[in-house]
Amino acid sequence: MFRYMTFAPLVAAAGLALGAPARAEGTVEVLHWWTSGGEAKAVGELKQSFEAAGGTWIDSPIAGGGGDAAMTALRARVVAGNPPTAVQLKGPGIQEWAELGALADVEGVAAAEGWDGVLPPVLAAIMKSDGRYVAAPVNIHRVDWIWANPEVLARAGIDTMPTTWDEFNAAADKLIAAGITPLAHGGQPWQDATIFENVVLGVGGAEFYRAALVNLDPEALTSPTMVAAFDQLRKMRGYVDANFSGRDWNLATAMVMNGEAAFQIMGDWAKGEFLAAGKVPGKDFVCAPTPGGGFVLNADSFTFFKVSGEDNIAGQQKLASLIMSPEFQKTFNLAKGSIPARTDVPLDEFDDCAKLSHADLLKATEADTLVPSMAHEMAISRSVRGEFLDLVTEFFNSDMSSEDAAQRLADAVKRAM
Ligand code: BGC
Repeated sequence: MFRYMTFAPLVAAAGLALGAPARAEGTVEVLHWWTSGGEAKAVGELKQSFEAAGGTWIDSPIAGGGGDAAMTALRARVVAGNPPTAVQLKGPGIQEWAELGALADVEGVAAAEGWDGVLPPVLAAIMKSDGRYVAAPVNIHRVDWIWANPEVLARAGIDTMPTTWDEFNAAADKLIAAGITPLAHGGQPWQDATIFENVVLGVGGAEFYRAALVNLDPEALTSPTMVAAFDQLRKMRGYVDANFSGRDWNLATAMVMNGEAAFQIMGDWAKGEFLAAGKVPGKDFVCAPTPGGGFVLNADSFTFFKVSGEDNIAGQQKLASLIMSPEFQKTFNLAKGSIPARTDVPLDEFDDCAKLSHADLLKATEADTLVPSMAHEMAISRSVRGEFLDLVTEFFNSDMSSEDAAQRLADAVKRAM
C-alpha cells in the first residue's frame, strides 16, 4: 500500500514532464434527496472524495424524505432532455428507466473491478439491465427498526425493548399513562407506509409480506392477516402526538433525541441523524428490530443516465469506481447509518446496531425472511406503490375500518396493475 502511495506522485510528475495531454477529470451532476443532517454529512463524504480525486461535483439536492419529490424532479429533467449524470434511484425504478432507454452503463468499470464478486447477488441483479451494470449501490439500509430514548423509557418504568407488537402496545400504554408521547411520527405518506410495512411483516411474517406487498396477491391483501395488520396500525395512530401531520422524519427523530417521545419506527437513516447530533448508540439511544423476525431491505444506489461529452462520461466512471471502493463504502456508511453494500468491508469500526443489521441480514438470507421494502421502492412499481401510500395514509387519517381498508387496498392495487 505504502509503496504504491509513494510511487503515485512520481508517475504524475513523469506525465507532466512528458507534456501529457490534459485528460477529462470528470464532472458529475448528482441528483439526490439527502438533505437532513445525517444525510447531508454522508453525501458530503461522497462529494469530498470525488473532488479529492480531481472531479467536479455539481450538487442537485431535492428536499423531501423518501425521495418522492426527487423522483418528480427527475422525470421533469428527463422529459426536458436534460438528465442529471447520476441519480439517487433504486429498486425496480432502475429497470423502469432502463426500459425507457434512458440509462448509460458502467460495465467497463464494474468488470474491471470485479463487482460481481463483492456484491450480494440479489443486489447485483437490481443494479443491472441486460446483464450490464447501470447503477452502483452505496449501502444496505434496514427499514424494520425501532429507535428509542432509554432515559425516557426508564421514566415510564420500561427497561427492555419490545419484541412483539403486544409488548410494544403495552409499553406505549405505560408511556401514555406517564404523560409521554410513545411514538414520534411524521404524517407523510411514505412514513405512514414505512410503519405499515413493518407491521405487515410483524403480524404476517415474511411469506405473507411477500404475498401481499411484493406479489400483490388479492387473497393476501383481503385476508384476516391484513385486517389484523390494519388493526395494529390503528393502535399506532393512538400513540402519536397531535402535531404529527406533515412532520419531516428527521424532526420525529429529534423528538426521540430530545426526550419528547420514546420511540420512532424508521429505517437506519435515523441512526445517521442521532450520530450527526453526537448521540452515542447504546447510551443516548437504542435500537431493536421491529417484531417480525425478518429484514426489510432498502439499498440506495446511484443510477447513471445517458449523457454526452467526454468529461461527463469520465465523471460517471470515476463516480462508479469511487462509490464501490471499500474505503468509501466504509466512510459513507459510518455516517449514513447503513452498512456497506460490498460484502468484504470489515465492520470493526461500526456500532452495535450496524453489526446487528449485518448479522440479521445473513440470518434472514439463510432463513428466506429477507423482504424488499415496499415503502422505499424496492418491491413494486411506483404506480402500485402510490396506491399503497394513498390508502395507508387515508386509513391513518380517518376512521376507516380495517376490513374496508383491506378491501379498498386490494381494489386499488388491482386497478393499478
Ligand atoms: C432512502 C434513505 C433516506 C431516507 C429518508 C430512503 O428511501 O433510502 O437513504 O435517508 O429515504 O430520506
